[in-house]
Amino acid sequence: MPKKTVLLTGASGEIGQALIHSLAEDPNTSLVTVDLKPLPGNLKGKSIHIIGDLLDKELLSSLENQYQFQLILHLAAVLSTTAERDPLLAHKVNTCSTIDLLELATRQSQNQSLPVKFLFPSSIAVYGLPDLETKQKIPPVHEYEWTNPTTMYGCSKLYCEKTGIYYSEYFQQLADQEPIRLDFRALRFPGIISTFTIPSGGTSDFGPEMIHSAAQGKPYDCFVRPDVRIPFMVMPDAVLALQMLAEVSSEKLQNRVYNVTSFSFSAQDFKDLAQKSFPGAEINFTPDLKRQAIVDTWPADIDDSAARRDWNWKPRYDGQDACQEYLLQNISKQYKA
Ligand code: SER
Repeated sequence: MPKKTVLLTGASGEIGQALIHSLAEDPNTSLVTVDLKPLPGNLKGKSIHIIGDLLDKELLSSLENQYQFQLILHLAAVLSTTAERDPLLAHKVNTCSTIDLLELATRQSQNQSLPVKFLFPSSIAVYGLPDLETKQKIPPVHEYEWTNPTTMYGCSKLYCEKTGIYYSEYFQQLADQEPIRLDFRALRFPGIISTFTIPSGGTSDFGPEMIHSAAQGKPYDCFVRPDVRIPFMVMPDAVLALQMLAEVSSEKLQNRVYNVTSFSFSAQDFKDLAQKSFPGAEINFTPDLKRQAIVDTWPADIDDSAARRDWNWKPRYDGQDACQEYLLQNISKQYKA
């Protein structure tokens, strides 16, 4: 069987690290990873790792000249809180690098006469609810509702979704002959919690930060109100969702952008879970009104029935008990050493 060449950007980030573990297990995959940072020691040797900036045109042309990719997982991005502090940087990293990679994938689809699969992590940040009253009363949000983001991160993710669809469906639509186009697929992720890594620069970070602080016996000051509620999933389910969407045949896909979720938690739910798992954990609430206002525009629940219908999506860690099981199994071990 010929080897499949996979490009993973943002490889040193949280999802990137988790994905390398499973992608590197497949003997038929040759994995090329890119990040501004080196990979942590436990991932060294699992991929051909290139340290570099995706905005560097020379880096992109050398990738294009050296490899023919069949699958691109483009994870590199500036997260929502960091993006608000430097919107222009977020625009460059989140959208310019995506366009450049979509172009690369388009050329490689044509060279190989085979659509390159382009997997893109989007986010609940593409949603923008007008006020708390609306957030509290609406049912779980579908992909086509409330897409009025109020953050640069959300705007850039929504733009990349639309552009990915454009490159898949309409690129060179005026040409005499229909070109071979890439195959773009995106997931709108909720907040993600990993037991092995801690997020930075996101606005859903209050959940994972609280759990990791409690596991380390450190007090935590939560930056949102106790009632602030958004959807979450644990890292193994985020990896599972990306893998399932990468593998499903295109005939089954009625969308190119899918919500995925596992459970919705308020900051108080995280506090309860943390204190149940780590009795005595000290958790206080000192809301940062501006960061909290961002989370208030994100839905409390999203509807992922399209993913369940088209590619049998179902999280393995569904609900509070399963989440607690995953967190407890691993997190305590991590900080005991
Ligand atoms: N976790 C992301 C953030 O908080 C949202 O997708 O920026």
